[in-house]
Amino acid sequence: MSDGPPSRRRFLAGAAGLTGAALTGSAQAGNPKNLPPNVPEWTRVLGDGVVARPYGVPSKHEAHVVRRDVSWLTASRESSVSFTPLHELDGIITPSGLCFERHHAGIAEIDPADYRLIIHGLVDKPLMFTLEDLKRLPRVNRIHFLECAANSGMEWRGAQLNGCQYTHGMVHCVEYTGVPLRVLLAEAGVKPNAKWLLAEGADAAAMTRSIPLEKALNDCLVAYRMNGEMLRPEQGYPARLVVPGWQGNMWVKWLRRLKLGDQPWFAREETSKYTGLMPSGKARQFTFVMDAKSVITSPSPQAPVRQKGFTVITGLAWSGRGKIARVDVSLDGGKNWREAKLDGLVLDKAVTRFYAETEWSGGEMLLQSRAIDETGYVQPSKNDLRKVRGVNSIYHNNGIQTWLVKADGEVENVEVS
Ligand code: MTE
Repeated sequence: MSDGPPSRRRFLAGAAGLTGAALTGSAQAGNPKNLPPNVPEWTRVLGDGVVARPYGVPSKHEAHVVRRDVSWLTASRESSVSFTPLHELDGIITPSGLCFERHHAGIAEIDPADYRLIIHGLVDKPLMFTLEDLKRLPRVNRIHFLECAANSGMEWRGAQLNGCQYTHGMVHCVEYTGVPLRVLLAEAGVKPNAKWLLAEGADAAAMTRSIPLEKALNDCLVAYRMNGEMLRPEQGYPARLVVPGWQGNMWVKWLRRLKLGDQPWFAREETSKYTGLMPSGKARQFTFVMDAKSVITSPSPQAPVRQKGFTVITGLAWSGRGKIARVDVSLDGGKNWREAKLDGLVLDKAVTRFYAETEWSGGEMLLQSRAIDETGYVQPSKNDLRKVRGVNSIYHNNGIQTWLVKADGEVENVEVS
């Protein structure tokens, strides 16, 4: 095990080693008939024509890269969650078809011709928009993460699920196109005594949340596109609320109604659910902001280390309070830390990709990452978090994750004291 970044000389030696392995064909099993110096089968035939795949799908060899669920977690699939395969992804954008889903009453299939969004309550002029009306209004593009407040919720009492897909996969990050909520509210004319906004979904759960008007006017969107295409049905087609940095439950999908009021509505999802039971017996309520968090996505239990030598450690960090300022990585369970490289776009309330490189010699490693956001907030250890919040919460577990890399390269979800 090496604690520091690999030296240039050692990196080059490692790279030469990798090239050697590829030339002898020993890196991966395959069909020898397709390997040099033979002409592989795909070079001998014409491939499919241009519109054989009018809407492209990934290579059949990537069929294992899918959303997954945990069968014992919920009683029904209609009120359940699937998880993003974070360990299979790189960069910061989640492919649309891999975004985790959380539905309380299944996927509403809405005919866009029959879609309506109503704005009423404490407004000068109640309004009703069609989808075409929304598309005619001024629009913006924003990249944001969405994290379910219950992400990592199974880990409050100890390490439980073996894979970052399950421990951290209730997060995705896409580009949204939509109308700023302030534009829609200005059309309706907000009355001076309005302080809160009720957002309601058109699914059978009629998902309902109260949102402070200040947030609604600041950076919320009514989005109809993600990653350039129209929203997928699972993500709220044809329109959803985008509430940057705040808990995913508030991002109402299949959005049908916005009501202005002078106080919150105390809906089910903000009283009996999405509140946090503290050690005192009292519950925290309206815990909107998602605190800074990070996870190493590879190596991780579903992405073990396959070869000794040069190894890239990578992961994601995000904060509901703004941009990620720094990510530290430890290979020894938090005794020593070094700064990871942030690569690509570092955006407000979006995930940030980080990398740290090492030479792995086959010794045990206790991998951890620690996010620090631009407000100076430092991601806490799980034990520090438990000292304040106890273990009865489900929501807002942003404690530091530990992966044990064993001598055979397999990786396990563990905790360090
Ligand atoms: N909106 C409606 N109408 N119905 C729902 O069940 N689930 C919420 C939120 N919006 C939900 C909803 C929850 S709990 C989360 S975490 C996010 O949507 C999940 O968004 P996603 O399915 O796009 O990942």
